[in-house]
Amino acid sequence: MSNNQSSGSENWGTRIGVILAVAGSAVGLGNFLRFPGIAAQNGGGAFMLPYFISLLVLGIPLCWAEWTMGRYGGLRGFNSAPGIFSVLWRNPLAKYLGGVALLIPLVIYMYYVLIEAWCLGYAIDYLTGDLILGTGGSVDTLVESLRENSAVPLSDKQAASQAFAKYFGNFVGSGENGALLDPEHRSWLLILGMTFLINFVFIYRGISRGIETFCRFAMPLLVVLALVVLVRVLTLGTPDPAYPEQSVLGGLGFMWNPDFHKLADPQTWLAASGQIFFSLSVGFGIIINYASYLRRNDDVVLSGLCSSSMNEFFEVCLGGLITLPAAFIFLGAAAGEQGTFGLGFVALPNVFAMMHGGRLFGFLWFFMLFLAAITSSVSMLQPVIAFFEEGFGLKRHASAALLGILSAMGCGFVFYFSEDMLALDMFDFWVGSVLIFILALIQSIIYGWLFGIERGEREAHLGAHLRIPRFIQYMLKYVVPIYLMTILVAFCWEKLPSRTVDGEYHEGYIEMIATNRIALLSVVFIGAVLMFLLLLVRIAGKRWEAEGRFADLEPEGEFRK
Ligand code: ALA
Repeated sequence: MSNNQSSGSENWGTRIGVILAVAGSAVGLGNFLRFPGIAAQNGGGAFMLPYFISLLVLGIPLCWAEWTMGRYGGLRGFNSAPGIFSVLWRNPLAKYLGGVALLIPLVIYMYYVLIEAWCLGYAIDYLTGDLILGTGGSVDTLVESLRENSAVPLSDKQAASQAFAKYFGNFVGSGENGALLDPEHRSWLLILGMTFLINFVFIYRGISRGIETFCRFAMPLLVVLALVVLVRVLTLGTPDPAYPEQSVLGGLGFMWNPDFHKLADPQTWLAASGQIFFSLSVGFGIIINYASYLRRNDDVVLSGLCSSSMNEFFEVCLGGLITLPAAFIFLGAAAGEQGTFGLGFVALPNVFAMMHGGRLFGFLWFFMLFLAAITSSVSMLQPVIAFFEEGFGLKRHASAALLGILSAMGCGFVFYFSEDMLALDMFDFWVGSVLIFILALIQSIIYGWLFGIERGEREAHLGAHLRIPRFIQYMLKYVVPIYLMTILVAFCWEKLPSRTVDGEYHEGYIEMIATNRIALLSVVFIGAVLMFLLLLVRIAGKRWEAEGRFADLEPEGEFRK
């Protein structure tokens, strides 16, 4: 194996290409939809304190650890987490822990691709005019029927607002399970199919010709689109003279005015760290896979920092300035109570309905979300396809077909069980929140305690143009695992049992599973996927041992005994 080459069959083409690909994986719906809603609900400007602490203490150090471990595993012939973890920690258990790093991106893909398809569907509906008031499209029909069926007269604003909410409900089938199988949703199925296909085309083309080439074009386009929408939002002024306080400045103040009381609430700290993980794609099993395609002297320190910084620019400067200030103009303080989807798919269409050029800006906004989502979703497929290829020697088309079937089954599950978006919520909670914390914890222990921070520091600095301060290594060994364990326990304590807060009953996830058939089914589904992956990991592990893939990795001093 040449020192300058990864031993795998694929490599990134250029340094900027890999940075853009990792940034593309990070920049997604989390930046534009999840971040603004969470920040507004958790103290506005004050939220930025726990947010930046989580970024500096957890996000960036773990990101560097993932880059370092990924390249190390890649140089020793592995691109998938089960192989890389086995190289980092010569223990039979390691490959199964790597199986968790396959489950996370796969299950997140299963629902993320649906949301991605909503974005494409909305973008198309803006182009056709279906989502614009006064064109005789579906929203107009809904406004008319709401007016006819309402016991009290509705103002234009109320009617429009209810119509957009109903439109979204119909679109995602939140009324009842199986609603999306109705023939009237046939075109929506087509859009979902197209979204799936686009993802698989990029994956099929491979790391450099597919993902890298796409991200090199998509990321600059994303900046341009976001800036265009941002300028439009910031020049909205006070569109409704009846509500003079609902202005852009009012919206910015609402988003960023610090409410320091929130800092005493542990929920704020949990929300901040969860957002950092989701947003940076740390603990997803993605960075470790992407970094495994690096060459020996490719810089991981500067590249990791660049991609994280790019993600923060999109999140804080673009996501933070567009979504919530725009929603505030229409909804006032109620904007802060909108969930992730309510903000993007209900509040913002109301804003587009009010502004000049709303049809164009509505299209640009949803197309931008679609692009952001697709650069993330392709990154969720790559770790699993890499595993199928190196674990079973499958060719690209066979592994893509297997992954296609597996992910389509999960996506079909979420698609069918659409009532109240419960299946989506369950996948997002158990995998998109709890398991991400667990994988981050596993990785920090492997890096800090099993691989060792001395080796980690040495490896990280091969080819690096920047030094990681020494104390970060100690943080990775001691502070990060303790911080993560605390977060995980507090998060489960907060979310698992049911509780009554200020006289309001909140059903916990345990009660939900015990009392709701779909919630239980969702958890069983996730468990079944995990079991299947672990079985494959076991077979692949035996194959690797039989092929002697680890044999030349055990010379004196290569591993801790
Ligand atoms: N990091 C990706 C996002 O923010 C998953 O959407």
